[in-house]
Amino acid sequence: MSLILRRNLGASWLLKACYSSSAKPGDSAKTIPKNLLEDKQTAVLQKENGAIFDKRPFKIHLDKDKTYSWCLCGKSKSQPLCDGMHKNEFLKIKQRPIRFKVEKSGDYWLCNCKQTTHRPFCDGTHKQPHIQSAVK
Ligand code: FES
Repeated sequence: MSLILRRNLGASWLLKACYSSSAKPGDSAKTIPKNLLEDKQTAVLQKENGAIFDKRPFKIHLDKDKTYSWCLCGKSKSQPLCDGMHKNEFLKIKQRPIRFKVEKSGDYWLCNCKQTTHRPFCDGTHKQPHIQSAVK
């Protein structure tokens, strides 16, 4: 019985760890960071997600004073950030990168499956079976 409880606590902590590097075992609240540019640019309104690039998030250090571009199309060679690949007219890519800023400098988990509903941050969507089976 206690083994099951310990397993559940471990899984719960792992899920929170995907949201924020500041999550620690025992934290009760989910802490998905906020994109400070969310209300200032229209790329976040794109309905379609990009191609699944990976089945797990990517931990990256971000500075609070910098603006970043997160790859939504899934074709960048500099994942999880945009390298301009979406501009290649032969690829006919509809998605545009998501520009974002963070509230404070630190380590963040950025979505690398490109299916998150909290762009550009991982929200655990990658745990869905169809995403896990899409990438070997
Ligand atoms: S990698 Fe976690 S939601 Fe995309």
